[in-house]
Amino acid sequence: MDDNMVRIYIMGKEYRVPSNLTILTAMEYAGYQVKRGAGCREGFCGACATVYRLEDDYKLRADLACQTKVEDGMFLAQLPFVPAQRARYDIDQLSPTVGVFQRLYPETFKCVSCNTCTKACPQDINVMDYVQAIIREDIERAADISFDCIMCGLCAMRCPAEIVQYNVAILVRRLYGKYLAPRSLHTEKRIEELNKGMWKKEVEELMSLSEEELKKRYKKREKEA
Ligand code: SF4
Ligand code: SF4
Ligand code: FES
Repeated sequence: MDDNMVRIYIMGKEYRVPSNLTILTAMEYAGYQVKRGAGCREGFCGACATVYRLEDDYKLRADLACQTKVEDGMFLAQLPFVPAQRARYDIDQLSPTVGVFQRLYPETFKCVSCNTCTKACPQDINVMDYVQAIIREDIERAADISFDCIMCGLCAMRCPAEIVQYNVAILVRRLYGKYLAPRSLHTEKRIEELNKGMWKKEVEELMSLSEEELKKRYKKREKEA
């Protein structure tokens, strides 16, 4: 076989594709039109979760299709959507306590500390650590560890305790942001001023500028020390 080409299998069918492609671009090279299961193509949106096996290897692997290069003998399947339970709540009616998670996501407390979720995460987030931090009611730490989550669903797909980690984590960050994060008082003051119409003339002027002029002004802006 040409050194620059590899064999991959998409839904069981063999294709030969250039070895420098990602799984996503290889699927398109093979003629598939990816309508669901792709978004940013840069590793940020979490839409392109994919599972695969390598030839003669029992291990089921999972990653982002837009960030993973094809390998010879890859058996691929796209996951356009990971079905997952999501609690409904009104953030104004909650408090940043462990009791909220006991009520909305009781399965969180069934974590068996197997660390499978951490190994599955394409963002290298220590998923088990944030789940454990929630159990200990350390909301700030859980929000911090899970900050880079892109909601791809790969952790939840592998969890033996059937925890939907990313939905639990978005609740933890919402609680942290609303109730625990230090307030930015000067921002609140400025919003109040804007609402009172104090900066109407300046806002109108900015709105009338071209994108280029806005960029120029942005680059020239005064920066805080
Ligand atoms: S924590 Fe889970 S949903 Fe978030 S990026 Fe990692 S694997 Fe994906
Ligand atoms: S995969 Fe599930 S049970 Fe295992 S450590 Fe992660 S959250 Fe806990
Ligand atoms: S397409 Fe957005 S993370 Fe892959």
